[in-house]
Amino acid sequence: MSYTGIDTKVVVVTGAAQGIGLGYARRLITEGATVILADRAAAAVEQAAARLNDEGDGKAFAYVVDVADPCSCADLARELSTQVGRIDGLINNAAIFSTIAMKPFWEISVDEWDQLMTVNLKGPWLLTSALLPLLRASDAASVINIGSDAVNMGRPGYLHYVASKGGVTGMTFSMSHELGEFGIRVNTLSPGPVYTEVHRDTVSATQKDAMLTRQALHRTAGPDDMTSLAVFLISDDSSYLTGQTISVNGGLIHR
Ligand SMILES: NC(=O)c1ccc[n+]([C@@H]2O[C@H](COP(=O)([O-])OP(=O)(O)OC[C@H]3O[C@@H](n4cnc5c(N)ncnc54)[C@H](O)[C@@H]3O)[C@@H](O)[C@H]2O)c1
Repeated sequence: MSYTGIDTKVVVVTGAAQGIGLGYARRLITEGATVILADRAAAAVEQAAARLNDEGDGKAFAYVVDVADPCSCADLARELSTQVGRIDGLINNAAIFSTIAMKPFWEISVDEWDQLMTVNLKGPWLLTSALLPLLRASDAASVINIGSDAVNMGRPGYLHYVASKGGVTGMTFSMSHELGEFGIRVNTLSPGPVYTEVHRDTVSATQKDAMLTRQALHRTAGPDDMTSLAVFLISDDSSYLTGQTISVNGGLIHR
């Protein structure tokens, strides 16, 4: 299947050095898009882009950005306005996630709370704001904010994370209305549990089994299970779709 207009799109994917973000970047490039891999992990994002260019035809570009830092976001916007002049897609995927230490909410320190919120909630706002002139320069721009079905599940053990992703989902609704007049669409892609090459402690073996039993589809998801929806949302095939939250969770929960 090919997606309308995707081969002419320039797409920024944050948090693309590893995990699902790298999956979005790889799939978009496979579909013909040019992808800016943006991550604060400098060596890892350079390696990721080099690997994608080895696999394909040189459409991956690495940039170091800290989405929590307004100056860093402004630097990226400045560089991209010189290098590419417009952006057709932005996937706000970067987050503090796989490194979270699970604990009851009353044991989360104020510093941990603030750091996570600054990246996961303030980051998508800061970067979307900084890149707005470039998004407006596109004929048909699409922003995807990455949420989480941990919100609907009320998953215990990382209240700051759940709160940040609830905020991201709310932000999408308002952003879609504020950006609609510029023809920019904004949606939330909300994954259920996804297992990547990165080890994490946010799901124990028991919890993994329990969630698999509850799912309509009794298999685990990998990054590839998320990427079709992302490509569809960036492409012109979804040109009337905005302000929505779409879960990809194998039927684990139903909104
Ligand atoms: N894996 C899952 O089960 C799952 C489920 C629901 C939602 N999500 C969401 O999907 C996204 C990707 O998940 P993942 O499993 O690949 O996570 P991950 O922790 O493996 O990767 C996160 C990436 O973001 C980058 N990053 C972190 N802080 C940054 C910053 N300040 N500026 C720029 N880059 C930064 C990291 O360097 C890393 O490359 C996250 O938003 C996560 O919350 C994941």
